[in-house]
Amino acid sequence: MNPLLKDKNCIITGAGRGIGRATALLFAGEGARVVVSDLDEAPAAAVVEEITNTGGQAVACVGDVTADDFADKLIQTAVDSFGPSIDVIVNNAGYTWDGVIHKMTDEQWEAMLKVHLTSPFRIIRAASPYIRDAAKKEKEATGQMSSRKIINISSIAGLDGNAGQANYSSAKAAVVGLTKTLAKEWGVFNVCVNTVAFGFVETRLTQAKEKGDAIKRDDRDIAIGIPENMRQLFKAMIPLKRAAAPEEAAGAILLMASPLADYITGEVLRVTGGL
Ligand SMILES: NC(=O)c1ccc[n+]([C@@H]2O[C@H](COP(=O)([O-])OP(=O)(O)OC[C@H]3O[C@@H](n4cnc5c(N)ncnc54)[C@H](O)[C@@H]3O)[C@@H](O)[C@H]2O)c1
Repeated sequence: MNPLLKDKNCIITGAGRGIGRATALLFAGEGARVVVSDLDEAPAAAVVEEITNTGGQAVACVGDVTADDFADKLIQTAVDSFGPSIDVIVNNAGYTWDGVIHKMTDEQWEAMLKVHLTSPFRIIRAASPYIRDAAKKEKEATGQMSSRKIINISSIAGLDGNAGQANYSSAKAAVVGLTKTLAKEWGVFNVCVNTVAFGFVETRLTQAKEKGDAIKRDDRDIAIGIPENMRQLFKAMIPLKRAAAPEEAAGAILLMASPLADYITGEVLRVTGGL
């Protein structure tokens, strides 16, 4: 069988860890050239090394997706490294900064909208010449346009709500609106735009809070993780009775990026183990 993403130029944000990392490795194994983007240099470099050591093609792009100039830097890295066509973008980078509404600060609220909504919007906008114009040129040259894919990562918190996550769930709901609108705007360029919404995937984001890990943002340590008793409760509520492995989450993203999804656009794929 042919690799599903042979010679496709792919960008994955938040690809140094968790779901993004597993997606980068899976995509590379399917023949993709991958821009491995992450806030943190060491994990991004490790993923690039893992891909290139096995004969794949990857390049790192380190930086904060919420920085004003980051979208342009990311797209330029892809174009300089792999050429002027961008085939797949996975907007995955993110974290959580929980709090009940009556105690939530403006900073907490804005941070989640910026990382989960504004950054995907800016990346898509910056990629537009390498998607829309590339498609137009293909059509002029061959009469056809290849299928390009944009996959925005959401959460069941965005679809169903989650106490303590007004900021995160609002941003993850809004990215569905971005997805559906873009599907209508760019369908004419043969771009499929979909959301993949996860339930509970075992990553640093959902590890036991008792481990005490934090994400560093503007000299501030923001605690990540879920209290162990809540993790166990979540698992008990999932019909499959377990969280997903990052590789299983990546499988759903590959499905939406692959030719198997060439006629699927504007959709939300729930990947929740039935939750
Ligand atoms: N794990 C889950 O159960 C779950 C459920 C629903 C949705 N999600 C979503 O999946 C995505 C990936 O999460 P994960 O679980 O793999 O977490 P993770 O913490 O394992 O990986 C996220 C990666 O994103 C990077 N990142 C975070 N903020 C960034 C920024 N501002 N700029 C650049 N990179 C940044 C981190 O450095 C990290 O390497 C997130 O959007 C998350 O909201 C996860």
